[in-house]
Amino acid sequence: MELEAFLRALPKAELHLHIEGSLEPEMMFSLAQRNGVPLPWASVEATRAAYAFTDLQSFLDLYYAGAAALIHEADFFDLAMAYFRRAAADGVVHAELFFDPQTHTARGVAYGTVLDGLERACHTAQTELGVSSRLILCFLRHLSEEDAFATLTEAEPHLARIHGAGLDSSERGHPPSKFARVFARCRELGLHVVAHAGEEGPPAYIRQALDLLQVERIDHGVRASEDADLLARLAEDGTPLTVCPLSNVKLCVFKRLEDHNLAQLLRAGLKVTINSDDPAYFGGYILKNFVDTALALSLSRAELTQIARNSLEASFVSDAERVPWLARLDAVAAGT
Ligand code: HPA
Ligand code: ZN
Repeated sequence: MELEAFLRALPKAELHLHIEGSLEPEMMFSLAQRNGVPLPWASVEATRAAYAFTDLQSFLDLYYAGAAALIHEADFFDLAMAYFRRAAADGVVHAELFFDPQTHTARGVAYGTVLDGLERACHTAQTELGVSSRLILCFLRHLSEEDAFATLTEAEPHLARIHGAGLDSSERGHPPSKFARVFARCRELGLHVVAHAGEEGPPAYIRQALDLLQVERIDHGVRASEDADLLARLAEDGTPLTVCPLSNVKLCVFKRLEDHNLAQLLRAGLKVTINSDDPAYFGGYILKNFVDTALALSLSRAELTQIARNSLEASFVSDAERVPWLARLDAVAAGT
């Protein structure tokens, strides 16, 4: 089987996907028009042309500006359905979606509106596309601990509808330690916990995420390779890393995909997964991340199968849900 067909056929879980980062410029413009919201760009083409980032913050500035087009329940539904259709076409069987309530509540959009639209899309994705999903609420780390606690309080009546909590936005200068108490409360409430760490921030932030937030997965985590003891610990504990190769190149974490350390992390025994992060901004959905990375780093089919297997194993579904996906993965890998 040709590489792309093989990678599409492998059942995959996408574990690092910001739903607001799947807002394609075409939808951004149609929603902005529908909602009478001004955008800082004159056209779809001008918007795409502005996607030349120098670091994480230069991306986040545009990402938050684009999210202003999202107002109504139907907007969040349409956004998530567009993502699920792309994901299904790429062979995603399960997706754990990050969403950023503070980006919306700060503009006067109610938390319930965001959640209703996303949750309806999750149900529709299951019934119409056979894609299962979970929602993970992310706290914006550039905002205060107090703001994060207020967000959690607002979310509490709806906690049955979300599965986990995460930490995203500007990493430098906002260490995981800032949110130790918030994450303790999240764990008390029975939420799974994950955090972005070691994308732009130092290995010490990955250690803090593990020790102080007690996260179950590290989002990105690529800077772990600067700390041999940390690498050994991550390998030993089997802590999954949700790596996003095209994102890392777009945000200048690595100059070229050929320079990415994903193969090094994988060969050091870490539970590496491949994800798209913010596909509308970074030039590709999960399948393109797999294909381009496989070619740039000469990953073998056994390694690619392992990466897909890691994603199924690292997901927050029950073992019963995982079993049929793993069986299909084995069948694809065996060429049957
Ligand atoms: N890093 C931090 N925050 C984010 C990202 C990211 O890659 N994408 C959306 N918010
Ligand atoms: Zn991310």
